[in-house]
Parts: sequence; structure tokens; C-alpha cells
Amino acid sequence: MSNTITNNTTQELINILNDNWRDGYTIPSARLYPFQWNWDAGFIALGLSYYEPERAMEEIRSMFDGQWLNGMLPHIVFHKQNENYFPGPEVWRVETSEFSLKNKFTSGITQPPVFGFILERMHAHMSSNKNWLPFLAEIYPKVLAFHKYLYTHRDPLNEGLVYIQHNWESGTDNSPMWDEIFEHMDISKARDVAHLRKDNKNVDAAERPTDENYKRYIHLIDQFVNCNYNDTFIAEQSPFLVQDVLFNSMLVKSNKGLIYIGGLLGKDVSELEQWNAKTIQSMNHKFWDEDRGFYYAYDLKANKPIHIKVSSGFMPLFAGVATKNQADKLKSQLKISFQKDNEWILCPSCAFDEPAFNPVKYWRGPVWINVNWMLFHGLVAYGFMEESQQIKQDSLALVDQHGSYEYFDPRPDNEVTNNRGIGADLFSWTAALYLDFKMNPQNF
Ligand code: GLC
Repeated sequence: MSNTITNNTTQELINILNDNWRDGYTIPSARLYPFQWNWDAGFIALGLSYYEPERAMEEIRSMFDGQWLNGMLPHIVFHKQNENYFPGPEVWRVETSEFSLKNKFTSGITQPPVFGFILERMHAHMSSNKNWLPFLAEIYPKVLAFHKYLYTHRDPLNEGLVYIQHNWESGTDNSPMWDEIFEHMDISKARDVAHLRKDNKNVDAAERPTDENYKRYIHLIDQFVNCNYNDTFIAEQSPFLVQDVLFNSMLVKSNKGLIYIGGLLGKDVSELEQWNAKTIQSMNHKFWDEDRGFYYAYDLKANKPIHIKVSSGFMPLFAGVATKNQADKLKSQLKISFQKDNEWILCPSCAFDEPAFNPVKYWRGPVWINVNWMLFHGLVAYGFMEESQQIKQDSLALVDQHGSYEYFDPRPDNEVTNNRGIGADLFSWTAALYLDFKMNPQNF
């Protein structure tokens, strides 16, 4: 089945979001992701808020129904059973954690914290809705508890930088940033899971991670279960502990959102302000490389930066972390390493001059609409109007011409061998953020 939208209207994208609605929450895509995902839910709620405000609130509420007792917000909530996904609850075994919910199946790891800024963005057009302020009052402490969890349990050096413990926590799951860590990982005790995978049977296997990598992803989860999801034990034992640029940028942008919402609700936001100032300072100290003119993630286990140039490095623009001088350098990088001959579609997820670049493989080159949407707002905020307009136009044109795909091939037409729209089709956040692009001209 093709979802090519020849005559694109917002109504067609709304239909996708409606079809992906499952009585209380929205799935990212029926083909690959049949449950509710964490940062997807944030972007989706924003899209819904323009035409179904009540459902937008329900989307967020459903996500937080899966929140653990220690504030951790899982990356998947398995609201209903579905055989079409691996790894399901039987792999996560979250009942081994004293903090997991006993009445709800979830995964045991998190995803980039987007809800603070999503609520702020929604506020502008939702404030006249009579249920909105009570909703904010209900959800604010939950989002705050998530941030508190991150600062309390994921920042062992007390730098204001939180770490991720699994590539699936990054949101950029298959990024080449993780390759070296996985190469060096001891998998002598890892089990074989190739036969259990569903993802590579549902879309072209060439666009998905290899079986060898999947073995490592599941091995990490098996270790978390062995640690009963105790963060201290995991930090000691697990080989994967990374302070990621996109994740910490989302945290800053969401801290700002919470400071704004907290102000509206008459809350004391001083703790948030302190966290935020520290994170911003540390990002510019630890992630920024002045010679290379780019932000890089930091591997806490190997104690060194991960010098792979990926689109996450631009996210400090969205968070307002970069200085003017840093922003200028980032803009140059965008031109030099992400847009070949002025013909490529912005913004590839990995620089084309990286050896790992692959235009069709999941987070190793393809364009993602959520990253573009954040990059657009970041570029506008720093006054880069030409580049920002190009990102917006490229994003809208991709969806207009190919449909609401999960990701897109960034190469010029003459080099694209197959369809430019790749991964899952009828993908929710692509539709939702297209709606925001169209319906809300306000920068933030
Ligand atoms: C993919 C993406 C991840 C997203 C998930 C559900 O795994 O890498 O960021 O949350 O799909 O859409």
C-alpha cells in the first residue's frame, strides 16, 4: 500500500493521526510501532492540539499513566497487547524494579524529555480551553518529577549533564555515535535474538540495524533486569553511559518550558532555574569543541568525546544554549558537511563526510521531520532566516511529495535509487509536526 499524498492537505495528515489513534493514545505507526512512545507522544500531542485539543491532553495523560514511582518516564507504554513488536514486556521484565508500576506494562528506559517545551508551545493556543489550566496543574508536577529523576539519578558527576544508558534512550537509536561502544562491548554472555525480531520483517532490512547490533541492544536490557533497574548498579556495570547532546538540549528547552508553565501556576521554579543554568554551562564546556566548531556527545565510560558529526549537534540552537559565535560556526557546519553542492535536502541525520554516512539507513543519514522542526526553530531564534526557511520548505515538500514517512533520503533526485520516503509509512510525528509548521508561524 502506498501512502503517497499527491494533493497534500492537512486533512490527509489529520486522517493519519486519526487512524493511528487507539482509544486514549496514538501509535507512531501501525507497521513498526504499535504502542505509545514517549517523545513521539509529545510531538503528536502538539499536532492534535490544533484540531482535537481534548485528545491532545489525553495523549499526554496516557503517557504519564506509565510514569514510574521514581519519576522515570518509560520510552514505551504497552497499553494493550500486540504481537507485532519485539522486545515486548516479557523482555523488559520491569516487575524486577521496585519503582515500576504493577498495573501497567512499560519498557524500563526513557527517551528525550520533550514535554516541558511541548506544553509551553501548546499553551499559546490552548489557554482559552476551560480544561487547559486544570490539566497543566495536573501534569506539571509529573513532568517536573521526570526532570528531577534525571538530575538525581542520571548525573553522577553532578555536572548538570544527564546520561543515557541505552541507544534507544537517545531517540536517535541507530546513530553511528554508538558504534564504537557496541564494538567494544563484551557479548560473550549475550543471547541470540535475530529470530525474535519483527522490525526487519516489517520494513526493508537494509534500512534497519543489523542482527549483531540488536543482540547488543537486548543484552543491555538483560543487564538492566539483572540490576533490578537500579540506576547506581547500572551505572557501575553497564558499558553504555553517554551524555548526549540532543537529550540534554531537550532537557534545557523543557526546563525553560517548565519554568514558564510553573510561573503561570504560581510555583517556585528556582530549582529548575538552577538545574538549567548548570546544564547550559556544562554543555558549552563539555560538549562544545571550539576547533571543530561543533557539539559532540561524551562517553562517560571511556571518558572521551564521541567525535561523530550528527544532526544532534545542532540541537543546542533549539535549546538556546549556543552563543552567537557558536551559532555562526554551527551554521557553517550545516553548509559544509550536511548539504553537498547545495543540492541535498536538509538536514541529514549524519554528516555526509562521515565514513558511516548512509542515506537510507535509520539515523545514519536520512532526514527526520522532528529534528528539522527543532532545527528550524533554532535557526530562526539565531536570525538565520535563509537557512531556516530552506529547512521548513524542504520538510513540507518532502511530506507533500512523498507522504508522512518516518524518514527521507537526503540526496538529490538523480542519486535516489528508490523512494525518497523510507522506514515506516503513515508515521504520526511527521504528520503532527507538519501541522505545527503550517498552523503556527510563531517561533519559540
Ligand atoms: C524509532 C526512533 C525513535 C522513535 C520510535 C517510535 O525507534 O528512532 O526515536 O521514538 O521509532 O517512533
